[in-house]
Amino acid sequence: MTSRDVNEAAAHYRATYDTALSELLSRIWGGNLHLGLFSNPDEALPQAQLRANHHMAAASRCQAGQVVVEAACGVGSTARYLAENYGVRVRATNIAESQLTEARELTERAGLGHLVDFSFADYHELPFADASFDVWWCQEALLYAVDKRRVLEEAIRVVRPSGRLIMSDLLLGDGVAGSEREDFTSKLKAPHMWSMGHWDRLIAGLPVCVAERHDWGAHAAPTFRNVLANFEGVRDEFTGRLGTAAMEAARERLSIQYEFAQAGKLSWCFYALVR
Ligand SMILES: C[S@@+](CC[C@H](N)C(=O)[O-])C[C@H]1O[C@@H](n2cnc3c(N)ncnc32)[C@H](O)[C@@H]1O
Repeated sequence: MTSRDVNEAAAHYRATYDTALSELLSRIWGGNLHLGLFSNPDEALPQAQLRANHHMAAASRCQAGQVVVEAACGVGSTARYLAENYGVRVRATNIAESQLTEARELTERAGLGHLVDFSFADYHELPFADASFDVWWCQEALLYAVDKRRVLEEAIRVVRPSGRLIMSDLLLGDGVAGSEREDFTSKLKAPHMWSMGHWDRLIAGLPVCVAERHDWGAHAAPTFRNVLANFEGVRDEFTGRLGTAAMEAARERLSIQYEFAQAGKLSWCFYALVR
């Protein structure tokens, strides 16, 4: 894995998240881009997303005055959630400039600019000193990482001893292989997507202890059902801006994720690791 490979992948995802498509995704996912932890399948998506944040924050053991680095922060909804509810300082990072701009505006409007700042950074190479954070946090973005070992080594480097790494990731089921896996990851434009077994093997070889490990795959289907319903609600508005072909492609990506989730072929993991 060379720096050039990493940079090419980053450029690809930057382009994806720097378009009006990013605004569509933000609308249909409810202002953030992560899955929900449902108490029952009929629960509303925002409530379920909040439950996921709450579980992850409790596992991070973060406390007021501590400093969290968020990798791949989207438009900063989780960074604001952590600052507002736990009184932590958050240094949130992303490679999509348009999301960073939106994140800064939303954060100023929420009156949280004194606790949260945003900067451009690829999670393979964080521009921060060793052991400078209490918690490293990353949600639903590692599927795009070309070199996941390097991303976690960076996380370990920037977190202080006994600090925590908190991560969730959208995955394929361990049994999905061959052309089915290739077809899915190429439609999703995430050729480096992993399964939980891949994460378990990588983590077992790293200098961390596993404090929590969950397979939250059952929550993928209700999440995508909600997001697809939201897509239909804004279809006309965004077709005018993005065009029919881009909208159909976006719908197809959501539909295939929903189909796989219903068939138990999509997974979603959560790990809390102690450095
Ligand atoms: C599905 S979104 C999740 C956003 C956010 N974590 C959330 O939960 O709302 C994936 C994010 O990963 C970011 N991303 C993709 N590749 C990245 C990289 N190499 N370094 C940092 N961020 C990256 C994208 O720009 C996007 O914001």
